[in-house]
Amino acid sequence: MQYDQALKVLEEADCLADRTAVEAALDRMADAITASIGKKNPMVFCIMNGGLIVTGQLLTRLTFPLELGYLHATRYGHQTSGGDLEWKALFHADVEGRTVLLVDDILDEGVTLKALADECLARGAKKVLTAVLVNKQHERKVMPGYCADFTGLELPDRFVFGYGLDYENMWRNAPGVYAVKGL
Ligand code: IMP
Ligand code: MG
Repeated sequence: MQYDQALKVLEEADCLADRTAVEAALDRMADAITASIGKKNPMVFCIMNGGLIVTGQLLTRLTFPLELGYLHATRYGHQTSGGDLEWKALFHADVEGRTVLLVDDILDEGVTLKALADECLARGAKKVLTAVLVNKQHERKVMPGYCADFTGLELPDRFVFGYGLDYENMWRNAPGVYAVKGL
């Protein structure tokens, strides 16, 4: 995307959650996560690339012992069955017997997050929890009612960017969650 076009996208976008709202959501998520797994010495995985900013901003709010790693996998084509992941970064941490927390930007249909959670369980994780900044509200979830264990913001079914979420690879750095005009 060209520089001028990218500026126009942000200018025309609807801000659904500004920095203050996102920070408040991250505070709430951190409190809930601490109450749930603060004593479990969890393995926390950032789901690249979208989970980068949420994970970073969440982690400084978690003042308990944890380990950090990252996972990067995408779905083959548009398949909707959970198994067919294409790994962009190999699974490099041992999760056997561990409590795992997966952190991502958004739960849309939930296909990717569920597949990664299943993969952790298949590799012997004791418990797998998921955290997303945004849950997109619609009826197309991978299983009816599928949701993350920790959700920051409930937002309408629009295409959003900012705080790690991209629009055509741009504006992951936008300081809020914005919906693209018309989308
Ligand atoms: P899911 O498997 O359908 O939950 O979504 C997989 C991925 O699609 C998410 O992790 C995001 O990277 C991307 N995605 C879904 N909705 C949006 C959006 O509104 N903006 C940017 N990326 C999105
Ligand atoms: Mg993603």
